Amino acid sequence: MSQHAYPGRFPDTRLRRTRRHEWLRRAVAETTLSTADLVWPLFVHAHEAAAPVTSMPGVERLPIEGVVRTAGEALRLGIPAIAIFPVVEPALKTDDAAHACDPNNLACRTVRAVKQEFGDALGIVCDVALDPYTSHGHDGLLRDGRILNDETVEVLCRQAVVLAAAGCDVVAPSDMMDGRVGSIRMALDEADHDDVCILAYAAKYASAFYGPFRDAVGSSAALGTAAGRGVGDKKTYQMDPANVDEALREVALDIAEGADMVMVKPAGTSLDIIHRVKTTFGVPTFAYQVSGEYAMIKAAADNGWLDGAKAALESVLVIKRAGADGILTYFAPEIARVVQG
Ligand code: PBG
Repeated sequence: MSQHAYPGRFPDTRLRRTRRHEWLRRAVAETTLSTADLVWPLFVHAHEAAAPVTSMPGVERLPIEGVVRTAGEALRLGIPAIAIFPVVEPALKTDDAAHACDPNNLACRTVRAVKQEFGDALGIVCDVALDPYTSHGHDGLLRDGRILNDETVEVLCRQAVVLAAAGCDVVAPSDMMDGRVGSIRMALDEADHDDVCILAYAAKYASAFYGPFRDAVGSSAALGTAAGRGVGDKKTYQMDPANVDEALREVALDIAEGADMVMVKPAGTSLDIIHRVKTTFGVPTFAYQVSGEYAMIKAAADNGWLDGAKAALESVLVIKRAGADGILTYFAPEIARVVQG
Protein backbone atom coordinates (compact mmCIF):
# COMPACT_ATOMS: atom_id res chain seq x y z
CA MET A 1 0.00 0.00 0.00
CA SER A 2 1.33 3.38 -0.96
CA GLN A 3 2.38 5.55 1.88
CA HIS A 4 0.02 8.20 0.49
CA ALA A 5 -3.00 5.95 0.61
CA TYR A 6 -6.09 7.38 2.11
CA PRO A 7 -5.58 6.80 5.81
CA GLY A 8 -9.20 6.17 6.67
CA ARG A 9 -9.73 9.70 7.75
CA PHE A 10 -9.52 12.97 5.94
CA PRO A 11 -6.00 14.24 5.48
CA ASP A 12 -5.07 17.16 7.67
CA THR A 13 -6.89 20.26 6.64
CA ARG A 14 -4.33 22.97 7.10
CA LEU A 15 -5.92 26.31 6.42
CA ARG A 16 -2.65 28.08 7.01
CA ARG A 17 -1.30 26.66 3.73
CA THR A 18 -3.13 29.27 1.69
CA ARG A 19 -1.95 32.05 3.97
CA ARG A 20 1.72 31.37 3.43
CA HIS A 21 2.57 33.89 0.71
CA GLU A 22 1.30 37.30 -0.18
CA TRP A 23 0.52 36.19 -3.78
CA LEU A 24 -1.44 33.21 -2.48
CA ARG A 25 -3.39 35.30 0.02
CA ARG A 26 -4.26 37.66 -2.82
CA ALA A 27 -5.25 34.76 -5.04
CA VAL A 28 -7.69 33.31 -2.50
CA ALA A 29 -9.09 36.61 -1.20
CA GLU A 30 -12.89 36.42 -1.20
CA THR A 31 -13.41 40.17 -1.15
CA THR A 32 -11.51 42.84 -3.00
CA LEU A 33 -11.98 46.56 -2.95
CA SER A 34 -12.02 48.51 -6.15
CA THR A 35 -12.06 52.25 -6.70
CA ALA A 36 -15.46 51.68 -8.32
CA ASP A 37 -16.86 50.81 -4.87
CA LEU A 38 -16.23 54.27 -3.48
CA VAL A 39 -18.24 57.46 -3.16
CA TRP A 40 -16.35 60.47 -1.80
CA PRO A 41 -18.37 62.82 0.47
CA LEU A 42 -17.30 66.48 0.25
CA PHE A 43 -18.25 69.54 2.26
CA VAL A 44 -18.73 72.83 0.45
CA HIS A 45 -18.98 76.27 2.02
CA ALA A 46 -19.49 79.80 0.78
CA HIS A 47 -16.01 81.07 1.64
CA GLU A 48 -12.99 81.64 -0.56
CA ALA A 49 -10.57 79.50 1.39
CA ALA A 50 -10.74 75.90 2.52
CA ALA A 51 -11.24 75.39 6.26
CA PRO A 52 -10.32 72.26 8.18
CA VAL A 53 -12.99 70.26 10.00
CA THR A 54 -11.40 69.91 13.45
CA SER A 55 -13.16 66.70 14.37
CA MET A 56 -12.29 65.08 11.03
CA PRO A 57 -8.53 65.47 10.54
CA GLY A 58 -7.70 65.59 6.83
CA VAL A 59 -11.20 66.70 5.81
CA GLU A 60 -11.92 70.29 4.77
CA ARG A 61 -14.86 72.48 3.96
CA LEU A 62 -14.09 73.54 0.42
CA PRO A 63 -15.07 76.52 -1.71
CA ILE A 64 -16.93 75.62 -4.90
CA GLU A 65 -13.73 75.76 -6.96
CA GLY A 66 -12.14 73.43 -4.41
CA VAL A 67 -14.95 70.94 -4.93
CA VAL A 68 -14.44 71.16 -8.69
CA ARG A 69 -10.70 70.51 -8.24
CA THR A 70 -11.39 67.63 -5.87
CA ALA A 71 -13.94 66.22 -8.29
CA GLY A 72 -11.14 66.15 -10.86
CA GLU A 73 -9.01 64.22 -8.40
CA ALA A 74 -11.85 61.76 -7.84
CA LEU A 75 -12.06 61.24 -11.58
CA ARG A 76 -8.30 60.68 -11.88
CA LEU A 77 -8.43 58.20 -9.01
CA GLY A 78 -11.25 56.25 -10.64
CA ILE A 79 -13.82 57.12 -7.97
CA PRO A 80 -17.19 57.07 -9.77
CA ALA A 81 -19.05 59.66 -7.73
CA ILE A 82 -18.87 62.40 -5.11
CA ALA A 83 -21.51 63.28 -2.54
CA ILE A 84 -21.97 66.98 -1.85
CA PHE A 85 -22.88 68.38 1.57
CA PRO A 86 -23.38 72.14 1.86
CA VAL A 87 -22.38 74.19 4.90
CA VAL A 88 -25.16 76.75 4.91
CA GLU A 89 -24.60 80.21 6.39
CA PRO A 90 -26.56 80.67 9.63
CA ALA A 91 -28.34 83.71 8.18
CA LEU A 92 -29.91 81.47 5.52
CA LYS A 93 -31.34 78.96 8.01
CA THR A 94 -35.02 79.39 8.79
CA ASP A 95 -37.80 77.44 10.45
CA ASP A 96 -39.35 76.62 7.06
CA ALA A 97 -36.02 75.65 5.41
CA ALA A 98 -37.02 77.69 2.37
CA HIS A 99 -33.44 78.00 1.16
CA ALA A 100 -33.37 74.22 0.53
CA CYS A 101 -35.57 74.88 -2.51
CA ASP A 102 -33.66 77.88 -3.86
CA PRO A 103 -32.20 76.87 -7.24
CA ASN A 104 -29.27 79.16 -6.50
CA ASN A 105 -28.34 77.72 -3.14
CA LEU A 106 -24.82 76.51 -2.49
CA ALA A 107 -25.60 72.86 -3.19
CA CYS A 108 -27.14 73.69 -6.59
CA ARG A 109 -24.33 76.09 -7.52
CA THR A 110 -21.77 73.42 -6.66
CA VAL A 111 -23.58 70.76 -8.69
CA ARG A 112 -23.71 73.08 -11.71
CA ALA A 113 -20.00 73.96 -11.40
CA VAL A 114 -18.92 70.31 -11.20
CA LYS A 115 -21.23 69.26 -14.04
CA GLN A 116 -20.00 72.09 -16.23
CA GLU A 117 -16.45 70.86 -15.81
CA PHE A 118 -16.90 67.09 -15.95
CA GLY A 119 -20.33 66.39 -17.40
CA ASP A 120 -21.39 62.78 -17.06
CA ALA A 121 -17.86 61.49 -16.42
CA LEU A 122 -18.41 61.81 -12.68
CA GLY A 123 -21.56 61.12 -10.70
CA ILE A 124 -22.98 63.57 -8.19
CA VAL A 125 -25.00 62.47 -5.19
CA CYS A 126 -26.87 65.08 -3.12
CA ASP A 127 -28.49 64.71 0.26
CA VAL A 128 -32.19 65.47 0.39
CA ALA A 129 -32.95 66.56 3.96
CA LEU A 130 -33.63 69.87 5.61
CA ASP A 131 -31.02 69.87 8.39
CA PRO A 132 -28.55 72.22 6.69
CA TYR A 133 -31.39 74.70 6.17
CA THR A 134 -33.46 74.62 9.36
CA SER A 135 -32.74 77.03 12.20
CA HIS A 136 -33.14 74.11 14.62
CA GLY A 137 -30.96 71.60 12.73
CA HIS A 138 -33.65 68.97 12.26
CA ASP A 139 -34.12 67.10 9.00
CA GLY A 140 -37.79 68.03 9.01
CA LEU A 141 -40.07 70.91 9.89
CA LEU A 142 -40.64 71.39 13.62
CA ARG A 143 -43.88 72.52 15.19
CA ASP A 144 -44.95 72.35 18.83
CA GLY A 145 -42.12 70.00 19.71
CA ARG A 146 -42.90 67.58 16.86
CA ILE A 147 -41.27 66.89 13.52
CA LEU A 148 -43.99 67.13 10.88
CA ASN A 149 -43.95 64.29 8.38
CA ASP A 150 -46.10 65.10 5.37
CA GLU A 151 -45.37 68.84 5.40
CA THR A 152 -41.66 67.98 5.39
CA VAL A 153 -42.09 65.58 2.48
CA GLU A 154 -43.54 68.39 0.36
CA VAL A 155 -40.44 70.50 0.93
CA LEU A 156 -38.17 67.52 0.25
CA CYS A 157 -39.88 67.03 -3.11
CA ARG A 158 -39.15 70.62 -4.11
CA GLN A 159 -35.58 70.29 -2.84
CA ALA A 160 -35.06 67.11 -4.89
CA VAL A 161 -36.41 68.78 -8.02
CA VAL A 162 -34.11 71.83 -7.77
CA LEU A 163 -31.12 69.55 -7.20
CA ALA A 164 -32.08 67.46 -10.22
CA ALA A 165 -32.54 70.59 -12.31
CA ALA A 166 -29.04 71.70 -11.31
CA GLY A 167 -27.69 68.43 -12.72
CA CYS A 168 -27.52 66.13 -9.71
CA ASP A 169 -27.53 62.48 -10.86
CA VAL A 170 -28.61 60.85 -7.63
CA VAL A 171 -30.80 62.36 -4.94
CA ALA A 172 -30.32 60.72 -1.57
CA PRO A 173 -33.11 61.35 0.93
CA SER A 174 -31.43 61.08 4.33
CA ASP A 175 -34.29 62.50 6.37
CA MET A 176 -36.18 59.30 7.29
CA MET A 177 -39.66 60.80 6.89
CA ASP A 178 -42.30 58.21 6.00
CA GLY A 179 -43.36 58.08 2.38
CA ARG A 180 -40.79 60.48 1.03
CA VAL A 181 -39.27 58.17 -1.55
CA GLY A 182 -42.53 57.66 -3.43
CA SER A 183 -43.39 61.35 -3.28
CA ILE A 184 -39.95 62.40 -4.46
CA ARG A 185 -40.12 59.87 -7.32
CA MET A 186 -43.44 61.33 -8.45
CA ALA A 187 -42.20 64.91 -8.13
CA LEU A 188 -39.05 64.13 -10.14
CA ASP A 189 -41.02 62.37 -12.85
CA GLU A 190 -43.53 65.21 -13.12
CA ALA A 191 -40.63 67.62 -13.56
CA ASP A 192 -39.17 65.46 -16.37
CA HIS A 193 -36.35 64.12 -14.23
CA ASP A 194 -37.34 60.49 -14.61
CA ASP A 195 -33.68 59.60 -15.24
CA VAL A 196 -32.50 60.90 -11.87
CA CYS A 197 -31.83 58.07 -9.41
CA ILE A 198 -32.99 57.84 -5.82
CA LEU A 199 -30.54 56.44 -3.32
CA ALA A 200 -32.68 56.09 -0.21
CA TYR A 201 -31.08 56.26 3.18
CA ALA A 202 -33.45 53.44 3.97
CA ALA A 203 -32.05 52.14 7.22
CA LYS A 204 -30.57 55.12 8.98
CA TYR A 205 -30.00 54.82 12.69
CA ALA A 206 -30.14 57.58 15.29
CA SER A 207 -26.42 57.40 15.90
CA ALA A 208 -23.83 59.11 18.05
CA PHE A 209 -21.41 58.63 15.17
CA TYR A 210 -22.78 61.58 13.19
CA GLY A 211 -21.26 64.05 15.66
CA PRO A 212 -18.29 65.24 13.58
CA PHE A 213 -20.51 65.66 10.49
CA ARG A 214 -22.83 67.94 12.42
CA ASP A 215 -19.79 69.98 13.44
CA ALA A 216 -18.66 70.10 9.83
CA VAL A 217 -21.97 71.42 8.51
CA GLY A 218 -22.72 73.50 11.59
CA SER A 219 -25.98 71.76 12.46
CA SER A 220 -24.94 70.64 15.96
CA ALA A 221 -25.26 74.14 17.38
CA ALA A 222 -28.66 74.46 15.74
CA LEU A 223 -29.71 71.10 17.09
CA GLY A 224 -28.75 72.37 20.53
CA THR A 225 -31.38 75.09 20.20
CA ALA A 226 -33.92 72.44 19.18
CA ALA A 227 -33.58 70.86 22.61
CA GLY A 228 -35.18 73.98 24.03
CA ARG A 229 -38.04 73.44 21.61
CA GLY A 230 -38.71 69.93 22.81
CA VAL A 231 -36.72 67.78 20.36
CA GLY A 232 -33.01 67.60 21.10
CA ASP A 233 -32.32 64.45 19.13
CA LYS A 234 -33.47 62.71 15.94
CA LYS A 235 -34.92 59.59 17.55
CA THR A 236 -38.48 60.26 16.39
CA TYR A 237 -37.43 59.74 12.78
CA GLN A 238 -34.05 57.96 12.69
CA MET A 239 -34.09 54.32 13.79
CA ASP A 240 -33.22 52.71 17.10
CA PRO A 241 -29.88 50.83 16.70
CA ALA A 242 -31.54 47.94 18.55
CA ASN A 243 -33.73 47.06 15.56
CA VAL A 244 -33.25 44.72 12.61
CA ASP A 245 -36.76 43.78 11.45
CA GLU A 246 -37.65 47.45 11.32
CA ALA A 247 -34.65 48.11 9.08
CA LEU A 248 -35.84 45.44 6.66
CA ARG A 249 -39.34 46.95 6.65
CA GLU A 250 -37.88 50.40 5.94
CA VAL A 251 -35.89 49.00 3.04
CA ALA A 252 -38.88 47.07 1.66
CA LEU A 253 -41.01 50.22 1.74
CA ASP A 254 -38.38 52.38 0.06
CA ILE A 255 -37.95 49.81 -2.71
CA ALA A 256 -41.72 49.60 -3.17
CA GLU A 257 -41.86 53.40 -3.37
CA GLY A 258 -39.29 53.42 -6.18
CA ALA A 259 -35.83 53.63 -4.64
CA ASP A 260 -33.18 52.61 -7.17
CA MET A 261 -30.58 51.98 -4.49
CA VAL A 262 -30.76 51.72 -0.74
CA MET A 263 -28.35 52.76 1.96
CA VAL A 264 -27.53 51.54 5.43
CA LYS A 265 -25.97 53.99 7.86
CA PRO A 266 -23.73 54.03 9.85
CA ALA A 267 -21.86 51.20 8.14
CA GLY A 268 -19.40 49.82 10.69
CA THR A 269 -22.00 49.36 13.42
CA SER A 270 -24.51 47.83 10.96
CA LEU A 271 -22.59 45.11 9.14
CA ASP A 272 -25.33 42.62 10.02
CA ILE A 273 -27.95 44.95 8.57
CA ILE A 274 -25.97 45.45 5.35
CA HIS A 275 -25.73 41.68 5.00
CA ARG A 276 -29.42 41.12 5.66
CA VAL A 277 -30.49 43.89 3.27
CA LYS A 278 -28.28 42.63 0.45
CA THR A 279 -29.26 38.98 0.82
CA THR A 280 -32.96 39.70 1.38
CA PHE A 281 -33.60 42.19 -1.41
CA GLY A 282 -30.73 41.82 -3.88
CA VAL A 283 -30.85 45.50 -4.80
CA PRO A 284 -27.91 47.89 -5.11
CA THR A 285 -26.95 48.38 -1.49
CA PHE A 286 -24.80 51.22 -0.26
CA ALA A 287 -23.35 51.84 3.16
CA TYR A 288 -22.13 55.09 4.67
CA GLN A 289 -19.00 54.93 6.79
CA VAL A 290 -19.91 58.04 8.71
CA SER A 291 -17.92 60.89 10.20
CA GLY A 292 -17.57 59.34 13.66
CA GLU A 293 -16.20 56.11 12.23
CA TYR A 294 -13.63 58.14 10.30
CA ALA A 295 -12.82 60.32 13.31
CA MET A 296 -12.21 57.33 15.59
CA ILE A 297 -9.65 55.81 13.26
CA LYS A 298 -7.98 59.17 12.57
CA ALA A 299 -7.78 60.06 16.25
CA ALA A 300 -6.20 56.72 17.15
CA ALA A 301 -3.81 56.92 14.20
CA ASP A 302 -2.81 60.51 14.97
CA ASN A 303 -1.90 59.36 18.48
CA GLY A 304 0.20 56.54 17.08
CA TRP A 305 -2.12 53.93 18.59
CA LEU A 306 -2.75 52.09 15.36
CA ASP A 307 -1.73 52.17 11.71
CA GLY A 308 -4.32 54.52 10.22
CA ALA A 309 -3.89 53.45 6.59
CA LYS A 310 -4.29 49.77 7.42
CA ALA A 311 -7.22 50.39 9.76
CA ALA A 312 -8.96 52.51 7.12
CA LEU A 313 -8.54 49.83 4.47
CA GLU A 314 -9.73 47.06 6.78
CA SER A 315 -12.73 49.05 7.97
CA VAL A 316 -13.91 49.64 4.39
CA LEU A 317 -13.08 46.13 3.15
CA VAL A 318 -15.34 44.53 5.77
CA ILE A 319 -18.21 46.80 4.76
CA LYS A 320 -17.84 45.39 1.26
CA ARG A 321 -17.59 41.85 2.68
CA ALA A 322 -20.86 42.38 4.54
CA GLY A 323 -22.56 42.96 1.19
CA ALA A 324 -22.25 46.62 0.28
CA ASP A 325 -22.02 47.38 -3.44
CA GLY A 326 -20.85 50.89 -2.77
CA ILE A 327 -19.38 52.71 0.21
CA LEU A 328 -19.53 56.37 1.05
CA THR A 329 -16.35 57.05 2.97
CA TYR A 330 -14.13 60.00 3.82
CA PHE A 331 -11.22 57.59 3.28
CA ALA A 332 -12.18 57.32 -0.42
CA PRO A 333 -9.09 59.09 -1.84
CA GLU A 334 -6.55 57.29 0.32
CA ILE A 335 -8.18 53.94 -0.34
CA ALA A 336 -8.37 54.62 -4.07
CA ARG A 337 -4.64 55.38 -4.07
CA VAL A 338 -3.90 52.01 -2.45
CA VAL A 339 -6.26 49.77 -4.42
CA GLN A 340 -5.78 51.50 -7.79
CA GLY A 341 -8.20 49.74 -10.04
C1 PBG B 1 -28.27 64.78 7.42
C2 PBG B 1 -27.15 63.83 7.31
C3 PBG B 1 -26.35 63.37 8.35
C4 PBG B 1 -25.36 62.60 7.78
C5 PBG B 1 -25.58 62.55 6.41
N1 PBG B 1 -26.71 63.32 6.13
C6 PBG B 1 -26.39 63.69 9.79
C7 PBG B 1 -27.60 63.47 10.56
O1 PBG B 1 -28.51 62.74 10.16
O2 PBG B 1 -27.68 64.07 11.63
C8 PBG B 1 -24.25 61.95 8.55
C9 PBG B 1 -23.00 61.71 7.80
C10 PBG B 1 -21.79 61.51 8.64
O3 PBG B 1 -21.84 61.47 9.89
O4 PBG B 1 -20.72 61.38 8.05
N2 PBG B 1 -29.52 64.35 7.09
